[in-house]
Amino acid sequence: VSAPIWVELGDRRYPVIGLPGDAGSVAASIDEVARPGSLIVLTDENVHAAHGDALSRALDARGRTARWHVIPPGEGSKSVTTISRLWEEVFSEPVQRTDTVVAVGGGVVGDLGGFLASTLLRGIDVVQVATTVLAMSDAAVGGKTGINVPAGKNLVGTFHQPRAVLQWTGALATLPERERHSGVAEVVKSALLAGEEEVAWLETNGVALASGEPAAVTHAVQMSAGLKAKIVADDEREGGARRLLNLGHTLGHVIEHATGYGSWTHGEAVATGMVLALDLGQARGFGTPELRERVVSILAAQKLPVAPPSLTVGQWTGPLAVDKKRTGDSIQFVFCSAPGNCQVVPVPIVDVVDWLSRMC
Ligand SMILES: NC(=O)c1ccc[n+]([C@@H]2O[C@H](COP(=O)([O-])OP(=O)(O)OC[C@H]3O[C@@H](n4cnc5c(N)ncnc54)[C@H](O)[C@@H]3O)[C@@H](O)[C@H]2O)c1
Repeated sequence: VSAPIWVELGDRRYPVIGLPGDAGSVAASIDEVARPGSLIVLTDENVHAAHGDALSRALDARGRTARWHVIPPGEGSKSVTTISRLWEEVFSEPVQRTDTVVAVGGGVVGDLGGFLASTLLRGIDVVQVATTVLAMSDAAVGGKTGINVPAGKNLVGTFHQPRAVLQWTGALATLPERERHSGVAEVVKSALLAGEEEVAWLETNGVALASGEPAAVTHAVQMSAGLKAKIVADDEREGGARRLLNLGHTLGHVIEHATGYGSWTHGEAVATGMVLALDLGQARGFGTPELRERVVSILAAQKLPVAPPSLTVGQWTGPLAVDKKRTGDSIQFVFCSAPGNCQVVPVPIVDVVDWLSRMC
């Protein structure tokens, strides 16, 4: 077990801890990091079916009171309906400020669990127990929480840093292959932001990573979480460097929105969104065809899609109007000139529409 990564946020600093073991080791870590109080455990049906009984028994064995709340899997659960149902369920028993929400699952459970914790009694602790590659490498770290509303994805949410992040790599054995591949999209994004060494590592270790070899997956999620920890420590609320983490997300979100959240996973949409960002970047003088080809090969080796679905210009541009990365008449894109050399560039919406119309 490697040393924890720390997200250095002064007196709110917290560790990101890799846990290759079973439910017993996760319960021990939760017991250690959570304050004495009840645990409000949030998970989804798939994670509950695979690991719920074992984790529940392990928490009982440590004498921790845990109340479980199990939601349907999928992006649809990041909704106003689910959160209001959870508020009702949670308050059917007394809640105290020393209680802790424990979010056990992927990015959906993490985003919803973080949001729940930030709203209960104006904010109680949350421990993120990440069980997908995507959550371990990205979503569980950094304190962004969110739910979706009809106008768009993650438009309602809070910044609420966890007390700790547990990367439960021991749970990945049950993660469906498609979800494992999807999670690597955020790792590729991190590598592009980090530099040549990280991109070259992905080129060399693509096969091991694609087949889910534990050492390769662990290395990948730690590299990605480590980069995110540094960026979040410098810019917790996304005023500057944190915006780089949106690489591939602007058009990725449009793909998720237009295809109805579900047929494309978040990671698949980000993968294609990254290729599109490299294309648009090149059209505006950032990056090279070689860089694009390297990224496309890395993504393709992880069975990730690199070509967009066929959408109309209206489907592309509609969601951009309410994009969080919009300022005035421009959208902030992340363009890369080379690995480790990426920047946020405002692009006038008219230019984006023009480029998309030519692409369509
Ligand atoms: N807060 C952030 O900074 C941030 C960053 C990136 C993404 N996100 C969010 O993350 C979400 C996507 O997360 P995700 O890709 O982890 O999806 P997810 O949470 O939907 O999990 C994917 C699927 O895997 C199942 N699953 C999870 N762990 C499992 C396990 N160990 N064994 C068996 N099945 C398992 C889930 O039930 C689900 O069906 C999106 O909503 C996205 O907006 C948030």
